[in-house]
Amino acid sequence: MAATTAALEVKGLRRTYGSRAAVDNLDLCVTEGSVYGFLGPNGAGKTTAMRCILGLIKSDAGSIAIFGETNAVKRRQHVGALVETPRFYEWLSGKKNLEIAAAYAGIPNDQVAPALTRVGLQDRGNDIVSGYSLGMKQRLGIARALLTKPRLLLLDEPTNGLDPQGMKDVRELIAALARDEAITIFISSHLLFEVQSVATRVGIIENGKLIAEGDVDELLAGGDVLEVEVGSTDKAGLSAALADIAEATVIGAGAEGEIVQLTGIDAAELNKRLVAAGVPVSSLSSRGRTLEDLFLSLTKSEIT
Ligand SMILES: Nc1ncnc2c1ncn2[C@@H]1O[C@H](COP(=O)(O)OP(=O)(O)OP(=O)(O)O)[C@@H](O)[C@H]1O
Ligand SMILES: [Mg+2]
Repeated sequence: MAATTAALEVKGLRRTYGSRAAVDNLDLCVTEGSVYGFLGPNGAGKTTAMRCILGLIKSDAGSIAIFGETNAVKRRQHVGALVETPRFYEWLSGKKNLEIAAAYAGIPNDQVAPALTRVGLQDRGNDIVSGYSLGMKQRLGIARALLTKPRLLLLDEPTNGLDPQGMKDVRELIAALARDEAITIFISSHLLFEVQSVATRVGIIENGKLIAEGDVDELLAGGDVLEVEVGSTDKAGLSAALADIAEATVIGAGAEGEIVQLTGIDAAELNKRLVAAGVPVSSLSSRGRTLEDLFLSLTKSEIT
């Protein structure tokens, strides 16, 4: 069977600013039809990687292929993108802005109305952009990115600065584009919870390096997360009681001591062990795993 071509394949990507590597030996593989969440904290290298992918800046090393095309000009022909905050002619209407973008890209004007409808701006298209809310501007940016009917949509933090309703609107739009129009979507965010519900696969980047990648279902498998608060003087007893548990991480200070997060044990067993070890517990809670848990377990120190 012939191997299917990835929508986006990045290998060994590196981009430095001075002596600092903003993106360091990055490998990514985004399969066609997926919604890929590209996650990482501020300054992790997400925008830099996306600019390299789009050919907006040069990379120092590595290869980038979009639907198998590696040429920097040609590989953009199937891509629509929204990188950081979109800019518009603020004194013109949303519709006029899209008409200008369409003319620039050689796309007929009759594509503008459907693009506005696609993002729910059909009734506001004639209003000038300076009167748009941030969420409306983001959606107009997505409409502009959709004008060329891309097979791959690159969205850099499309919900940045939006309120919860605005975030939900954009999330639903992304899900609908993937579902109804089979557009492959690569979306970056520093908000892990936000992407968890919409992405099928995620890559987590920190300091320019990929630290985890996988299907969301797989990454979140492995049972619930327990959080237990213990007095800091009881840490040695806690470590002894939990020595055989794979993941136990101190995640912060609580009102009465330290909060330790655990996976790979259930609440009853944990309680039994702590009582047996004579470790007083101020609180114990259990909840489903999130990408934040995964990120914290990958980046924070293990208890010693
Ligand atoms: N033009 C530039 N000149 C110098 N350093 C830069 C430049 N652009 C980015 N960097 C540095 O590269 C690193 C990665 O930045 P980048 O903007 O790619 O991160 P990010 O993951 O997009 O962060 P954010 O979530 O804040 O958008 C940072 O250390 C940043 O300071
Ligand atoms: Mg960024």
